[in-house]
Amino acid sequence: MKNKKIKKLVFATNNRHKLKEAREIIGDEFEIVSLAEIGCHDEIPETADTLEGNALIKAHWVKDRYGFDCFADDTGLMVDALGGAPGVYSARYAGEHCSFQDNVNKMLSEMEGKDDRNAFFATVVALILDGETYTFEGRVHGSIALEAHGTEGFGYDPIFVPEETGVSFAEMTPDAKNAISHRGRAMRKFADFLKQRQ
Ligand code: IMP
Repeated sequence: MKNKKIKKLVFATNNRHKLKEAREIIGDEFEIVSLAEIGCHDEIPETADTLEGNALIKAHWVKDRYGFDCFADDTGLMVDALGGAPGVYSARYAGEHCSFQDNVNKMLSEMEGKDDRNAFFATVVALILDGETYTFEGRVHGSIALEAHGTEGFGYDPIFVPEETGVSFAEMTPDAKNAISHRGRAMRKFADFLKQRQ
């Protein structure tokens, strides 16, 4: 029997939804492990002013301190009428310890009366593998709704309407969202790259 050694790859997150999604997309060629599983409980600083910069900081943090090959992601919502804000600051848009609801409320109030409601989500995945660094980006274009709709998902999902569907992410099933989402697209590019390398 062929006994191929499965390579361990750390995903610099403890978000179990992201871990599940990554394991499903990447398949069984790699063993995807979380930060907690390698004993990393650090508060990794996300101090860059780009998504790529933050994803690279997280991946390098794990490689430099724990020695494992690693990938990390960072996501932002870019709104045209707000000059690309909140962008890399999407998690903390309404303040340092704000909730998803606080962010949604702030976005709706900042967008009040604005005709241009175009926006896009972007995710960058940074990978450090066998001494090389790679990045993969996924985007989804759409618009900011006038009010919140739907109960699925998280974050800005109730007010982001992808142009492909015309309903908010929060009104879509997780599978339907993943098929077109920023993170789904970035993760599939990343997974295709890993498969080609095998
Ligand atoms: P992170 O880099 O994945 O932690 O994402 C940063 C912030 O962007 C999150 O705290 C959410 O507010 C927002 N965000 C990321 N992904 C999504 C999504 O798929 N839907 C809605 N909001 C998201």
